[in-house]
Amino acid sequence: MQKTRILFCSDVHLCHANWYGRTSAERMGNMIKDLNEFYDKKPYEQIVFLGDYSLDHWVCGEGGTWLNQRLSNTDNFIKQFAKDLKAPYHMCPGNHEQYGHEDWERIVGTKRDDAFTVGGYLIVTCDNFSGDLDPKQHSDGVYAATKLDFIKAKMEEFPGLPVILCGHYFDWNKEPAAFFDFLKNEKRITALFCGHDHRTEITDLGEKADHVCIYHDGHYSYSGDGKTPYDIMWGFTEVMLTEEGIDVKYVEPTNTVNFKGNVIEHQYREQNHAFFRRRDI
Ligand SMILES: [Fe+2]
Repeated sequence: MQKTRILFCSDVHLCHANWYGRTSAERMGNMIKDLNEFYDKKPYEQIVFLGDYSLDHWVCGEGGTWLNQRLSNTDNFIKQFAKDLKAPYHMCPGNHEQYGHEDWERIVGTKRDDAFTVGGYLIVTCDNFSGDLDPKQHSDGVYAATKLDFIKAKMEEFPGLPVILCGHYFDWNKEPAAFFDFLKNEKRITALFCGHDHRTEITDLGEKADHVCIYHDGHYSYSGDGKTPYDIMWGFTEVMLTEEGIDVKYVEPTNTVNFKGNVIEHQYREQNHAFFRRRDI
């Protein structure tokens, strides 16, 4: 197996709000530029977006544009911005994309739960906010336990490949014992990736999951609760897939932003470097 680079990126939130002194459109343009410049320096095979392209179903302030105006910022994200990416990309839904299956497939072109292979790994994208899809009023998404039967079926379809599970979030407080048993016993699962909390950190799921870890892939909007752009800036997670396992780091490109009246000249930074060894060899 040769080394293959992929990226995880999430919580880009194209919407009415300005963060860090930029309009949403300016920020999206900046993100596409950052991703393409990174591609020129370190080519990657695939971007996996882990949800929250919008606030399409969040009816607060000027959010909830899909429910109120049938204006989809998920669709705008694709047609106005993602179209300019240099690498192929896959989109997993977030809690802010509560589209029913038909609308999601029409807008995005893939299934809400999906799977594909890259670099000798099977990537399964889990739709974990599927508890009450196609709401008629304000929704923050309803968590539903990870669909183990779907993952098992995909693993049977692609026998022998090491697996990366990813989704907008894996809420370990809401997952049943079967989730942890599955991770513990199914050694082909190498690691999990999520977004949602706008952080870069690693959650070790503990003994009951054989210490399989969830890597939180950061954000390209605003830092999570209790964090600032000094702690975690706009960025994405770089993953090198290898025969032995996956090498992971959070990458923050150079950017100048405004935070609470201060100009931050953020220099390129890598943080949260980790290596997740394959458990099946
Ligand atoms: Fe989210």
